Amino acid sequence: MKIGIILGTRPEIIKLSSIVRKLERLKKLKVDGLNNAHNDINNTNGSIGNINYFIIHTNQHYSENMDKIFFKELNLPSPNYNLNVGSGTHGEQTAKMLEGIEKILIKEKPDVVIVQGDTNTVLAGALASSKLKIKVAHVEAGLRSYDRNMPEEINRVLTDHVCDYLFTPTEIAKENLLKEGIEQEKIFVVGNTIVDATLQNIKIAEERDDIKNFIKTLSNGEDYFLLTIHRAENTDNKERLKNIIKAIGEITKYHNNKIVFPIHPRTENRLKKYNLFDEIKNNKNIKIIEPVGYLEFLMLEKNAKLILTDSGGVQEEACILKVPCITLRDNTERPETINVGSNILVGADIEKIINGIELMLKKERNWKNPFGDGNSGETIVEILLNQNL
Ligand code: UD1
Ligand code: UDP
Repeated sequence: MKIGIILGTRPEIIKLSSIVRKLERLKKLKVDGLNNAHNDINNTNGSIGNINYFIIHTNQHYSENMDKIFFKELNLPSPNYNLNVGSGTHGEQTAKMLEGIEKILIKEKPDVVIVQGDTNTVLAGALASSKLKIKVAHVEAGLRSYDRNMPEEINRVLTDHVCDYLFTPTEIAKENLLKEGIEQEKIFVVGNTIVDATLQNIKIAEERDDIKNFIKTLSNGEDYFLLTIHRAENTDNKERLKNIIKAIGEITKYHNNKIVFPIHPRTENRLKKYNLFDEIKNNKNIKIIEPVGYLEFLMLEKNAKLILTDSGGVQEEACILKVPCITLRDNTERPETINVGSNILVGADIEKIINGIELMLKKERNWKNPFGDGNSGETIVEILLNQNL
């Protein structure tokens, strides 16, 4: 079986890492001899004998600390193809990806293509493959915010409807797909691969003195809140971004701890454009840093008193690592985190943000992770190898 993996952004590299590592192990087993293969995989219809895979990177993300750092830290092989698409309008970016991906798929002729998440890379990968009649597997299928203003929601819905295998993290996501008329036989509830990535890498991070020292130096050994913002709904709306920045400034007056803010390049650009960057940079209680690698970020999350974010992956990781989360959005496609009590929605409303912090600081950290046991990547590969492709 030949598998094509298509990825392009920071969260896709992280959330596909357990799948890539599993495929790499199987490829090595093939080279080393099949005798050991049964130790690594169960019930696979014999497809293991011919397993092969390749990675296409669209380079939607390309800055060192949004891209290569993750291949290095997560010990992933370099992509076989780099499309160098970079940034652009949605149409430009998606069109360039479609063109580049199609050429490679025609040449490589994979049996199945895997995409993960809800970015423009995912839509382009799923669309190019399905039009070539190549089977497509969507990892993290079925998430819905029911907000079509979000580019991610359009990407998710369209991707799910052209896919052949839909790997949902939870029963809620499966129900979303069934409501849209997607056939039950295509849907597999497997947990979220973010649990694999979080659990595997927090262990590594906790044993690294350089990372422990990085956190210590950054926080001065004191309590801190961790902040990330990057979603278009916040960064492309001056009023919302202004309110969030104002709320953050207010928080630093009431709480005797710093706010650590690894800033996404999109957010830095917008803050500068709206003349809001200096206000936040000049606040001595806010520590703005460049985006950091995965091991550093997991440790920043784990040691934070509280996390403020509009990121999807960060809502999940906060839940898994048992750190209370305040989501700076009006809705979430991760309702499981709200249901278990690890997360609340506060939008970009100053009062709600401040009250939300008070509420979440009192939370007992005893919720249950609803996203699975950390074996999703393995399960996904096993299911695919069991298909008659
Ligand atoms: C994209 C995804 C979003 C996901 C996020 C993960 C879409 C529509 N959006 O948003 O769902 O949550 O990735 O982080 O696919 N930039 C750099 N260096 C980079 C990448 C981006 O400087 O390596 C800057 C550029 O100015 C660019 C801007 O960030 O214009 C936005 O990048 P883009 O990939 O269009 O969207 P993201 O906001 O990263
Ligand atoms: N992340 C990271 N370094 C950072 C910020 C985030 O490694 O400086 C990781 C984080 O642990 C999570 C992923 O990036 O796994 C989330 O990506 P992002 O917030 O960009 O996208 P989203 O999940 O919202 O699509």
